[in-house]
Amino acid sequence: MIEFSKKTNLLSLHTNNSSYILQLYKGQHLLHLYWGKRIILTERSTYLPLEERVNMVNSDPADKSYHIEDLPFDYAFWGKGDFRSPSLSVRDGSGAIIPGFAYESHTISEGKKGIPGLPSTFAQEEDDAETLEICLTSSVTGLKLLLIYTVFPDFDVITRSVRIENHGENSVKLDRIMSVTVDFDPGEYELLTLPGAWGRERWIERQSVPHGVVSIGSSRGISSHQFNPFVALLSPGTGENSGEVYGFNLVYSGNFAAETEKNQDDRVRINMGINPFTFSWLLEPGESFNAPETVLVYSDKGLNGMSGIYHKFYRNRLSRSNFSSKERPVLVNNWEATYFFFDEKSLLDIASKSKDLGIELFVLDDGWFGGRNSDRTSLGDWVVNKEKLPDGIEGLSGKIRSMGMKFGLWFEPEMISPDSNLFRSHPDWALHLKDSPPAEGRNQLVLDLSRDEVVVEIIRVLKQILGTNAVDYVKWDMNRSLTDAYSSVLPFDRQGELYHRYVLGLYRIMDEITSAFPDILFEGCAAGGGRFDPGILHYMPQYWTSDNTDAVSRLKIQYGTSLVYPQIFMGSHVSAVPNHQLGRITGIDMRANVAMMGNLGYELDFNTLDSKELESVKQQIVFYKKYRNLIQFGRFYRLIDPFKSQNASWMIVREDKSEFILFYYQIFSEANLPRFSVKLTGIDEKSIYRETGSGDIYIGSELMYRGYFLPGFTADFQSVVVHFSKENST
Ligand code: GLA
Repeated sequence: MIEFSKKTNLLSLHTNNSSYILQLYKGQHLLHLYWGKRIILTERSTYLPLEERVNMVNSDPADKSYHIEDLPFDYAFWGKGDFRSPSLSVRDGSGAIIPGFAYESHTISEGKKGIPGLPSTFAQEEDDAETLEICLTSSVTGLKLLLIYTVFPDFDVITRSVRIENHGENSVKLDRIMSVTVDFDPGEYELLTLPGAWGRERWIERQSVPHGVVSIGSSRGISSHQFNPFVALLSPGTGENSGEVYGFNLVYSGNFAAETEKNQDDRVRINMGINPFTFSWLLEPGESFNAPETVLVYSDKGLNGMSGIYHKFYRNRLSRSNFSSKERPVLVNNWEATYFFFDEKSLLDIASKSKDLGIELFVLDDGWFGGRNSDRTSLGDWVVNKEKLPDGIEGLSGKIRSMGMKFGLWFEPEMISPDSNLFRSHPDWALHLKDSPPAEGRNQLVLDLSRDEVVVEIIRVLKQILGTNAVDYVKWDMNRSLTDAYSSVLPFDRQGELYHRYVLGLYRIMDEITSAFPDILFEGCAAGGGRFDPGILHYMPQYWTSDNTDAVSRLKIQYGTSLVYPQIFMGSHVSAVPNHQLGRITGIDMRANVAMMGNLGYELDFNTLDSKELESVKQQIVFYKKYRNLIQFGRFYRLIDPFKSQNASWMIVREDKSEFILFYYQIFSEANLPRFSVKLTGIDEKSIYRETGSGDIYIGSELMYRGYFLPGFTADFQSVVVHFSKENST
């Protein structure tokens, strides 16, 4: 619900449980008055106590109590006395930074529009989503700035995006355009981020917000393993189930920045958007520029509260894929089973064993095209390798399908190997500087997606392969960061546009391909979880969480990822031991119990397992399929944090609380420990729940406040997965 009061000049955005309130001040400035638990403001409480302060600039010399640096903004400009990092920096033809934009008008309308060229969340007809567009203008240049807010009351979500339009007669240069700015009231806050690395994606880090600027982000051309485009501001001491949380998630897959800035008065500003360090944009007369969307979530129920809101919203309003609300198949992927060394026979051997075990989808990973027998060659030559697959993809896919499974295929469309026919015919298609040989990553170069002909060619090739072969699933990989960011087709004053143009090119390809093949299930990947962001997830409703398939490592990775992203998005596979990434040996049940909290798959050669292990796999798949709907679509709660202890636990509860599954993992064992319990959450306190299998019954409140007592473990890497269902109400 969005309201404007002419009397108080307040613009109030309400979700069912939160309020976000702006105030028009002096008829031109847009102040951020409040964001938090849902409130009603009386006329008296809208008053902003302004007074004259020593040694502060007066941007309006007639009003000595008005100091811009003293005020909370919802979009901020530099040059007239606000010395914090601004939201926007635009230079006019003289080179001067345009100092400010003033409110001109606003509109409130039903629903939500898309953002041209960019992924975004969407509203369905049944939502009472409303959109507020605030137009600010700069009289000097004829620039129009549109701040766009959409409220999804039932989801408790507000989205924001920004558009700048040049209605003047001269070009201007954007140096910085944030998607969101919020100035929080003075106070103590903690900053939560999800830093990581290859194989250690999205660990959780918390720190108190210090004075000055803390900045995270990416300049790698992808959102990156190193930081997810997500930050949250927390009230000090916030836990999983209590405390105030303000989440910001950017719907973008390229270079981003997120900053906190605490000023002299302890006021904290958050800025988030495209990374200004690697960005500039020439805006010609008649052109407009859209900054990506941010998804804002407030919860007063701790981190689980915030995650529950993001999960539900993203499951329902992020991807329009036909598969969004469909159960996902249990898959087997041949990568860790064979790497590049397979032929049709070895693949079919894995496939037929997989079918017996209950697997539904066989995925052929890297190595099926060109002369791709190592990672040194052939990216760009998307022609089947007939030595390995004499009957082609069509032949293999036909055989897999006739076994009763679906067939999936790996691509890495954004890349080019120096040793490839594509490179030999189009060396200039790879990103490279004029006079310096390009840096390689995994022996490969990156295609220049800012070039129209490159984008058109990738679309052509993918359409040709997917249109002529029976493919049910695509794994879309991207295995290196961008370097040598120069495009031979962009002029001098547009080179700063390259990174963003790359992302726009990528989105155009993804949009065309996923729209042309709505019945193919797409899974994103970037050397594991290097681009696990809402931008890609808009096109592809699942993602390979990490190349690290070790069960213990995955506890942290999946725990961190679950802060923002629902478990159905997380590809999680059971792989061989010793684990290929770090050598650890864990049992097949521990591996499966970790993998089955998400989108379950296997990534090993079943022919290497003994009969006992094979029987376990069979049972795992039976169990998963039985509870798949609950696991993939239920409400996820984190219970025990593996970053803080030697164990981990989470649970998934059916929306109506009629059933749930508890997952508990012990990492290292210890001698002579007492039995202890894990306290559950999110279930019905008054109901009786029966444990499936043992038949034991419990009252909800008992499980929540006294806890569920775990068996004593006498070995490392043990786990328990138990299902409970509701009996009746007391
Ligand atoms: C990346 C992916 C892996 C696998 C390989 C293939 O590393 O993350 O899952 O597909 O590429 O080369």
